Amino acid sequence: MDNDILKVLYSQAEIKAACQRLGKQIQTEYQDKFPVVVGVLKGATFFMTDIVRAADTYMQIDFIDVSSYHGGTESSGDVQLITDITTDVSGRDVVIVEDIVDTGQTLKFLLDTLKARGAKTIKVCSLLDKPARRTVDAHADYIGFEVPNEFVVGYGLDYDEKYRNLPYIGVLKPEIYTNN
Ligand code: XMP
Ligand code: MG
Repeated sequence: MDNDILKVLYSQAEIKAACQRLGKQIQTEYQDKFPVVVGVLKGATFFMTDIVRAADTYMQIDFIDVSSYHGGTESSGDVQLITDITTDVSGRDVVIVEDIVDTGQTLKFLLDTLKARGAKTIKVCSLLDKPARRTVDAHADYIGFEVPNEFVVGYGLDYDEKYRNLPYIGVLKPEIYTNN
């Protein structure tokens, strides 16, 4: 897999440090609130497990799977709920954990959906933020790193379901997705 990577953006050590920082922020802010922390499948799974373990406070965890992709590197904008959470979020403090906020369409869908179910508060923790591509008004409250407008993979992020298990985050060589 390493051979397909043009450059490493964030090393394992840098990711670990970011997770500690964000986990402690969540710990401080949600002390005594028993939040529902919702990880967005599949990209945020590694990040989710790392930040919740860095936050020493009571919390409930759940996962949601949404899709706006059809295999390529562009979001289709048509977001669909694939697998729902099983937690009733009505009256609860919710933290959405995302891998990346790109156009913001996925996040907007999640915010609208959970708001409509009566969540008391909703905040968003995203490992990566790609503000250059935002098309709708949705933002993360806690951010690991701001990334340039390049397609990134690793630490949960995929291209065509590959590279999620890379331990670092890198930019894929353009020939990998232009040759396919
Ligand atoms: P939107 O555009 O809805 O996209 O904010 C959010 C989702 O799209 C995926 N995404 C990426 N996945 N490398 C990836 O592997 C990227 O550079 C990238 N940009 C967007 C991701 O699943 C995210 O949740
Ligand atoms: Mg995602």
